[in-house]
Amino acid sequence: MAIFHDPRGLSRTAATADAAAAYDKTVQAYLAMTPDAGDLLKATLAADGEMVMAHCLKGYFMMLMAMGGLLPKAEKAAAMARETAEGATDRERLHVRALEHWAGRDLAGAAVIWEDILLDHPRDILAARLAHFAHFYAGESRHLRDSVNRVLPHWDRDVPGYSYVKGMQAFGSEEAGDYAVAQAAAEEAIELEPNDPWAVHAYAHVMEMRNRPEDGLAWIERLRPYWTQAHNFQNHIWWHECLMFLAQDRQADALSQYDAHVFDADGDEYLDLCNAASLLQRLEILGLDVGERWQPLGEKVRGRTEEHLLTFIDLHYALILAAAGDDKVHEMREFTARHEGTAEDSNLPIMKALGLPMIDALIAYRTGRYADAAQAILPIRYELWMMGGSHAQRDLFALILIDAARKAGDERLHGALLAERRAAAPDDFWVAALSV
Ligand SMILES: [Fe+2]
Repeated sequence: MAIFHDPRGLSRTAATADAAAAYDKTVQAYLAMTPDAGDLLKATLAADGEMVMAHCLKGYFMMLMAMGGLLPKAEKAAAMARETAEGATDRERLHVRALEHWAGRDLAGAAVIWEDILLDHPRDILAARLAHFAHFYAGESRHLRDSVNRVLPHWDRDVPGYSYVKGMQAFGSEEAGDYAVAQAAAEEAIELEPNDPWAVHAYAHVMEMRNRPEDGLAWIERLRPYWTQAHNFQNHIWWHECLMFLAQDRQADALSQYDAHVFDADGDEYLDLCNAASLLQRLEILGLDVGERWQPLGEKVRGRTEEHLLTFIDLHYALILAAAGDDKVHEMREFTARHEGTAEDSNLPIMKALGLPMIDALIAYRTGRYADAAQAILPIRYELWMMGGSHAQRDLFALILIDAARKAGDERLHGALLAERRAAAPDDFWVAALSV
């Protein structure tokens, strides 16, 4: 085992320079969201089966998929990382610990370690990107912004990977409401490296929040040759385009794009399922008949109701089952209520506090008990950020509340909810759409 330096000056251990270079390529693929990251990781482990960071990365990749079935593989990778950590640097050992936390369902604990790494190693782009993921799914928009801003003074255009840090700054700033900073950061990121789906996406979020669908669509269109090289994350950008179609009253376009690019018949990726549920529900709120489209989604999630990895995902699965009329959603509700989990599990308390009332609300909403749905959401609506995800994604639940009040015939509540939404976003398409 020898020490090599990565393109950003960090030392890491590997058997050979070739193995270290193969690892760097894998991290690069992770940042650029290309579909070959898994194959590159395999090549890295073939070059050096004892590389501690390669085992960490393998475990991280398993956890990033947010799939219950992959937890044993993540645990195995963590065990291999621990086994191969002899001779590792302090930073690498911290990554092993972070993976152990995450594979043990403690994403919050892992985030603390990544942030600790970044204090000493602000150019550890893997730690920065994983912390970004963790803060995002904790709904911590200020932390999402500040985490990147803390490391940025240690970066400049000459440091490889700088554009990806700007892309993260763009998204963190957008979620924290600093739209001008976010837009400028996304533009700089794309100027330096157009093949950065995360930066493309951050800009789309700014346009979504600023209600500028024309500008958002033009940006996405211009960069389409790049972001369509991404793995399934590209489906999420297609989804963003659909939201902008809705703002332009182009519901038919959104539905045909759903069939072509948002729904993935062959995949089981959680983000695809969330995108799909989120778009179908919006279309139904607008009065569109989406036919049998909920059914195949229901088939994909009915075996995943006890995973409880992220509340954001669980609630989309519950929505899918409730919309598909699948009784499995009741089992999911009961399992959530009685499941004890472990003391380390950082998601379960949120699922209990927020997820349970929200599942009740979704069941009520999808079975026509609209007043019950609204009453279930009202007490928790200002805590919904804790489920994680973006403002644009969580807006689905705000729309469901307004729609429930409207369909319940509760003119007082319906009018009040519209008034607050209109005040926050006077030109918002949904205010007009939900007024009738
Ligand atoms: Fe997004």
